[in-house]
Amino acid sequence: MKLWGGRFTKETNELVNNFNASISFDQKFYKQDVRGSIAHATMLAKSGIISEEEGEKIVNGLKAILADIEAGKLVIDDEYEDIHTFMEANLIERIGDAGKKLHTGRSRNDQVALDMRLYTRDEILAVDEEVKELMQVILRIMKENVTTFMPGFTHLQKAQPVTVAHHFGAYFEMFKRDRSRLSDIYERMNYCPLGAGALAGTTYPLDRELTAKLLEFNGPTLNSMDSVSDRDYLIEFLSALSTIMMHLSRFSEEIIIWNSNEYKFIELDDAFSTGSSIMPQKKNPDIAELVRGKTGRVYAALMGLLTTMKGIPLAYNKDMQEDKELTFDAIDTVKGCVSLFKGMIDTMKFNDKRMADSAKHGFTNATDAADYLVKKGVPFREAHGIVGQLVLLCLDKGIALDDLSLEEYKKISPVFDEDIYEAISLETCVNKRLTLGAPGPEVMNKVIKLNEEYLANN
Ligand code: ARG
Repeated sequence: MKLWGGRFTKETNELVNNFNASISFDQKFYKQDVRGSIAHATMLAKSGIISEEEGEKIVNGLKAILADIEAGKLVIDDEYEDIHTFMEANLIERIGDAGKKLHTGRSRNDQVALDMRLYTRDEILAVDEEVKELMQVILRIMKENVTTFMPGFTHLQKAQPVTVAHHFGAYFEMFKRDRSRLSDIYERMNYCPLGAGALAGTTYPLDRELTAKLLEFNGPTLNSMDSVSDRDYLIEFLSALSTIMMHLSRFSEEIIIWNSNEYKFIELDDAFSTGSSIMPQKKNPDIAELVRGKTGRVYAALMGLLTTMKGIPLAYNKDMQEDKELTFDAIDTVKGCVSLFKGMIDTMKFNDKRMADSAKHGFTNATDAADYLVKKGVPFREAHGIVGQLVLLCLDKGIALDDLSLEEYKKISPVFDEDIYEAISLETCVNKRLTLGAPGPEVMNKVIKLNEEYLANN
């Protein structure tokens, strides 16, 4: 069950076998392993290193193995050290001596470097697709809520009125940047390490350009030692995944706050909430909490791999096998979180009236009241003081600025007139915010159009 018994005189200790083996997790990229081996064998035959006939036998044998695994006819056996060993042993069993030539000019070091890259490349696209689907839901919510008012916060204190479209639009921008990070990483990592051998290339006349092309890379890597020991593309990917989770976690935190009894801005769908075993009244935002919680796990993968890599001399060392479980877990966690989060926000309901009331009763129009005075010639600093006094009066009476009588306004500043009510209405406060990027519906609709174009083209 090993590829390396020749120079050994003793059986490997059983515990060492288990400790060393990676097949329990590296079987995750069996497809990529087959794909890489097919490209390698095709190149070996084209370059005359093995015969055409041997090449064909190997390729057909590998295709048959893949088909059998997919059909459940061949089970990946944990007795083997890793997926590479399993594949080679199986191939030899099927096609005999030709199978023994597959590994010509190749080491498991460049093989695993290739497999992991192929796997990561596929997963970058899969994560990207999940994030894109989430953005489609965000955009749908934006379109439907251009005039759904809510308070905007700073310091978690009501600040100025915004809209649900505007608030969700902020996340649209974050996820847009997340996707652009993913595509940058894809471009940078998209070079083929196959042919690097164990660390110093090989004496066979391998056509590295050809394998790179067959595997749809931009080209071959240019240093064989780097090729087998580079894991920084994974660190970058884990960093991008961590940033996606950081965004999702902030969003989750807001959902949890909005869903609380005190806020009641939203209602989560029953299908996306959970209950309590003891308190019958409970409907808990567990999904949002788990997404927030799992963020720590993805950060841990990033920290874990950074720490694993920091003291490793060139070139390949077995430490690097640790990249897999960390990365696989982070990828699966992120895909699961994005998809569940999408379902959760797609089904939740907004409590429009409650949000508008909240915006109205938190003095979110105080800046606009000051601006009103400025437009009538009062210097801003003075206007700020006047409105401050009005706020104090309102707090005393337990009412909103909108509820003060004109008499009360005039008592503090004679500049106020009947048109103050219109000037500080929630509608005016939002509608007048028309600078690009602001919540005013006119400019928001422009941004929504740009977002639509973005999703159509990216
Ligand atoms: N399982 C190993 C890994 O994940 C494959 C490479 C093994 N190479 C070696 N020289 N032992 O890194």
